[in-house]
Amino acid sequence: MTIYPENTVIMAPLSGYTDVPYRHSLRRHGCNYAFTEMIDTGSLVYAKGRTRNFLDRAEDEEWLGVQIVGNRIDEIKKAVEIINTRDFSVLDLNIGCPTPKVAKKGKGAGLARDIDYAAKIIEAMVKKSHFPVTAKIRIQDINDPSPTVDFIKKLENAGLQAVTVHGRLMKSIYSGPCYTDIIKAVKENVRMPVVANGGVMNYQDYKDIMNRSGCSRIMIARGAMGNPWIFEELTTGIKRYISTEELCDEMQKHISEIAEYYEEITAMKLSRKIILDYLQGRGFPRKLKCEVSQIRTLDDFKRFMLKVKEGPSRRFLEEMGKI
Ligand SMILES: Cc1cc2nc3c(=O)[nH]c(=O)nc-3n(C[C@H](O)[C@H](O)[C@H](O)COP(=O)(O)O)c2cc1C
Repeated sequence: MTIYPENTVIMAPLSGYTDVPYRHSLRRHGCNYAFTEMIDTGSLVYAKGRTRNFLDRAEDEEWLGVQIVGNRIDEIKKAVEIINTRDFSVLDLNIGCPTPKVAKKGKGAGLARDIDYAAKIIEAMVKKSHFPVTAKIRIQDINDPSPTVDFIKKLENAGLQAVTVHGRLMKSIYSGPCYTDIIKAVKENVRMPVVANGGVMNYQDYKDIMNRSGCSRIMIARGAMGNPWIFEELTTGIKRYISTEELCDEMQKHISEIAEYYEEITAMKLSRKIILDYLQGRGFPRKLKCEVSQIRTLDDFKRFMLKVKEGPSRRFLEEMGKI
């Protein structure tokens, strides 16, 4: 079975973002492959509550991967049992999260410090999981491909069925170049599908990472934040100007769904960063963006949107050739 067909653009898991309303917004613009937010196995097994909502999958979501982060085999097995009660396209292990509170505990990117132990976790997941097991990993060295290749080969031998390689080191977090030559070496040395990730913000970046890594499966993250239209751009090769009307329509659909999904205070708290992402780089005055922090209710949001509907600054529209 092919987990990701060739030439697929996959939306990355984004902690604090890729819930059902977020994925719906992306899917409206051509995203067909997406992931849940990263789910901590300890919270899933012991805390329950809201963490279980992270497993929600809407009926219209044809392909959805679930991502977990953890490092205790017993806990991971219990988490997989819970996940097995739902339906997912793949079960992904996060071996790339650089956040100190995750990595310092030996989870996420911290798990890469002990390759044999990481392989044991994959083995345990493969044994338990009803779904194909995949992993998302960072490169281990920018000059020498062997540490990354050896690590991933070990996971493949443990039963891993696909790997996403983020072409940056743990210490680089999300900045600096994406080392596509290291991803290419992985691609050339494993049998399973390899997904390349890192730095795709537009069509040119997309073509570049494909050409340089030799991968046709690409994962994007920040390029889609506030810009679900990037999925259209990567398919057609054309970057369209998003009119104020279209922008407002998408923002309203997205935030209304968040408001239906969570109770109002939580919904608006989650929405503020998303609203700012939508406004970013679209010529709206700083004063308007500052007002986002004051949005506490759905009515506040509706009032705020009346100002967004007035459109970007005149200067921005001139620069875009719109007036
Ligand atoms: C806000 C934010 C949240 C993220 N959450 C996750 C996560 O939950 N799981 C994961 O594997 N990667 C996570 N990442 C990393 C991205 O999936 C991706 O690997 C990284 O941003 C590089 O891709 P890009 O250059 O296209 O943004 C996150 C990144 C950002 C910016």
